[in-house]
Amino acid sequence: MTKYLVTAALPYANGPIHLGHLAGAYLPADIYVRYMRMKNKDVLFICGSDEHGVPVTIKAEEKEKTPQEIADYYHDLMKDSFIKFGINFDNFSKTSRHLHHKNARYFFKRLYENGYLEKKSENQYFCEKCERFLPDRYVEGICPHCKFDGARGDQCDKCGRVIDNVSLIEPKCKLCGSKPIIKETEHFFLKLNEFQEKLKVWLESKTNWKSNVREFALGWIKEGLKPRAMTRDLKWGVEIPIDGYENKVLYVWFDAPIGYITSTMEWAERIGKPDKWMDYWKGNDSRLIHFLGKDNIVFHAVIWPSMLMGINDNYNLPYDIPANEYLNIEGQKISTSRNNAIWLNDYLNDFPPDIMRYTLAVNLPENKDSDFSWKDFQTKNNSELADIFGNFINRTIVFIQKYNNAELNANIDLQDTDKEFLDIINKKMELMGKYIENYKSRKAVYEFMDIARESNKYFTITEPWTLKNDKKRLNTVLYVCLKAVTILSIASEPFIPFTATKIQKFLGIDNLDWDDYKNIEPLLKLTTHKMPILFSKIEDKTIELQREKMFGSKKEEQGDMIEFGEFKKTQLVVAKILEAEKVKKADKLLKLKIDIGCEKRTIIAGIAEFYKPDDIIGKNIIVVKNLKPAKIRGVESKGMLLAASDKDKKHLRVVFASDEANPGDNVG
Ligand code: 2FM
Ligand code: ZN
Repeated sequence: MTKYLVTAALPYANGPIHLGHLAGAYLPADIYVRYMRMKNKDVLFICGSDEHGVPVTIKAEEKEKTPQEIADYYHDLMKDSFIKFGINFDNFSKTSRHLHHKNARYFFKRLYENGYLEKKSENQYFCEKCERFLPDRYVEGICPHCKFDGARGDQCDKCGRVIDNVSLIEPKCKLCGSKPIIKETEHFFLKLNEFQEKLKVWLESKTNWKSNVREFALGWIKEGLKPRAMTRDLKWGVEIPIDGYENKVLYVWFDAPIGYITSTMEWAERIGKPDKWMDYWKGNDSRLIHFLGKDNIVFHAVIWPSMLMGINDNYNLPYDIPANEYLNIEGQKISTSRNNAIWLNDYLNDFPPDIMRYTLAVNLPENKDSDFSWKDFQTKNNSELADIFGNFINRTIVFIQKYNNAELNANIDLQDTDKEFLDIINKKMELMGKYIENYKSRKAVYEFMDIARESNKYFTITEPWTLKNDKKRLNTVLYVCLKAVTILSIASEPFIPFTATKIQKFLGIDNLDWDDYKNIEPLLKLTTHKMPILFSKIEDKTIELQREKMFGSKKEEQGDMIEFGEFKKTQLVVAKILEAEKVKKADKLLKLKIDIGCEKRTIIAGIAEFYKPDDIIGKNIIVVKNLKPAKIRGVESKGMLLAASDKDKKHLRVVFASDEANPGDNVG
């Protein structure tokens, strides 16, 4: 049986997952995998966190944590969010693991021995002020291709193209803002030029690929591939397996894709069949499918296949790379620094996963950039999930429950209207399958909702409420409706799996295959319990609150009382005091170094008259995490601790949290 090895790009462990990630790679991959599993295909779904490289070291420097602390923190957060969002990888690994380092070093060594890596000196940006080389994201400037101001040293996020060495316009050091000089440094280069012809033939044969992916990769090849540096002047990353390069590591884009292999090996080990990973990576009848966002195309369609060819170890090349374009938020490019982003962990605190899964599925940037807006999210929930899908299921169930003790019989007599309706459903289910297999989830999700639309239409036309005296016809109509509900529970599973499970549980069925739609008969005895509401309406004020979280409150002051929603915006967390010292020439102030879980911060607190530094070091306090930083006596204070005092400020007590609490724990 054909094997499907489905990967989703390893997310950098430098921040939580946001909607852009989900729409680019993870949700389309999950929809595909869920469908393929329902078709009983042999699918393995692989991911993990990408812990190396500059994205992680920059974050660590910013947060005064070690790169490993940052990577561990975000690995756990991402893993947890994926599970809560219904994305269940067969394995979710970490590239800092020993096995991964071993694999990456092996790849490097093999490519070196096979003559595909060469040592040479090249010019690199160097910041004299920071006294360091500026690889990748440590330098920013204007993209020489599309003129976007904000391109990085190795790649432009806007146009997705790789940037040739030291070719940024107006480069600036990311750390201090000064103009870097150019200095020579020695690196190992992957001779991409040697794969030029083979890659071209291979890519040209991929006529079934999405044109954005194929043309993008072929475009780069046509320009003429040049050797590209696969090592970096950094301390964080996989060590180079050749003596004399102790101050350099492998380029993150060299080791990251190897992470897919490591993760598969881990899975094989875990299920007690340690060699089984090879069936997926090297088997004749195995298809390697990489889901990813536009900025990852060149790495997966050019550099990674070159590595796989060059290592000459019988690895399969990617079978397909269904990459997506970008998702914008409220009409603007996602920007984590400008807070124009919606974080999955935040979202999951406020709403169930399926509403977002559905809204994103309808708006996937499959062929061009698309947009997410909170208003649209509300409409998708209220007017489609609740009013169309939920409504049909609910009215069918309620009607059957009221009828004949929640029981139907199989003695039906189908009329043309019924047959036509069932025929429409069958055709749509078949179409959905074709769409998903061809990575067109957007079209598939449209058909799914259209089945619900048609179902409502059928209910309205057949008017079951007028059939009280025609039991036989009523039984037939309700039977057909219940069959439609059962099929809708199948159709909904790739998109809104939590809801699909809820419905099936209620109907007393589970483990349905996709193809069951062709001949499934509904279970004729329903429970008399009340059907749970599948989707409740979302009110305007809830949506307004979400928009305010992103854009700030636009409302006028409303007096002293605040809404609960306003208060909820204040993030109170437990923090551990790591260091405390008096602020010079300020009797009342202590400067505290605190750990809030995801980062270390400095805050200035007016508590020096009441606490000596030594008394509070090691204690857990409560701080407001999302307060705008303020400069106090020349020091940036990022947060505020909770304390209570009398009105004359003669006595003051800090609010201490329990010693058992962990930094970062939510309060409230
Ligand atoms: O763009 C990113 O988030 C990268 N960390 C993706 C890596 S994909 C793979 F190669 F691991
Ligand atoms: Zn560009």
